[in-house]
Amino acid sequence: MTVNRIGFGAMRLTGSALGAPSDRDRVIGLLRRAVELGVNHIDTAAFYFSPLRSANELINRALAPYPDDLVIATKVGPGRDPAGDWLPLARPDQLRGQVEENLRQLGRDHLDVVNLRQHGLDSIAEHFGALAELRDAGLIRHLGISNVRPQHLAQAQAIAPVVCVQNAYGIANRISDKTLRTCGEQGIAFVPFYSIAGDGREAGGVADNDAVLAIARQHGATPAQVRIAWTLSRGPHVLAIPGTGNPDHLVENVAAGALRLSADELASLE
Ligand SMILES: NC(=O)c1ccc[n+]([C@@H]2O[C@H](COP(=O)([O-])OP(=O)(O)OC[C@H]3O[C@@H](n4cnc5c(N)ncnc54)[C@H](OP(=O)(O)O)[C@@H]3O)[C@@H](O)[C@H]2O)c1
Repeated sequence: MTVNRIGFGAMRLTGSALGAPSDRDRVIGLLRRAVELGVNHIDTAAFYFSPLRSANELINRALAPYPDDLVIATKVGPGRDPAGDWLPLARPDQLRGQVEENLRQLGRDHLDVVNLRQHGLDSIAEHFGALAELRDAGLIRHLGISNVRPQHLAQAQAIAPVVCVQNAYGIANRISDKTLRTCGEQGIAFVPFYSIAGDGREAGGVADNDAVLAIARQHGATPAQVRIAWTLSRGPHVLAIPGTGNPDHLVENVAAGALRLSADELASLE
């Protein structure tokens, strides 16, 4: 599947980090605008919900019947109970239920991409094997992995092809540099998250940084745009899934796909 490099992360659709629900019409409009602007890769999860909103339900409402070229990637492994409290990582035998939950909420008979989002596992083989069986059964087209270390990629590849790796990564978070390079060598998409939010993580925000601010000024761009452009500069296999509930930020983020940083600017950010 070929996707444009600027995709969209759905985690910010459901409300603010402090829990205020999003404006439903505004975020449905934002999703439709994203597709109009050329976004054809949306990252979501059944566990992206707030007391009044579900990211998958909003995507379904805004975009179904889905355009043929739209790739919706979702994640399984983590889960939340109906009150929103986090559950322990799913056991392998619980992954089918999570896949079916995504199918139901998105209103699809298959999922384009499912990432196993691991946490704390030395080996992901058993979990990834369970997803590979669901792929063989036709519920999933392609598999990815998330929040992984280099050994996890090899473990998964021994079981089934991996099309993408989704890890936290950005100018100030280079822990996954080696994994990013390995993905490039093997033709696997590397999909960073928190590439704008950085240390802000769930709380969001864009941290100030002198080099980022100076380069943004030179280009008449915003710091967020510089951060996106920097991640894309890390290799042609790197995609972006910036998350926003703000329609103006969406436009800026898509435009960042055309921002090219010079060698001097990249060196200064390094
Ligand atoms: N696999 C995983 O474990 C995992 C973990 C976290 C996230 N994700 C995925 O990755 C996506 C991206 O991560 P993220 O949404 O946490 O972080 P992000 O894209 O790095 O940053 C989002 C934060 O930056 C703000 N922002 C976005 N565009 C902006 C702009 N142009 N100017 C100023 N501020 C801007 C957003 O606020 P506004 O809403 O106000 O724009 C939000 O606070 C998520 O949406 C989700 O799909 C995956």
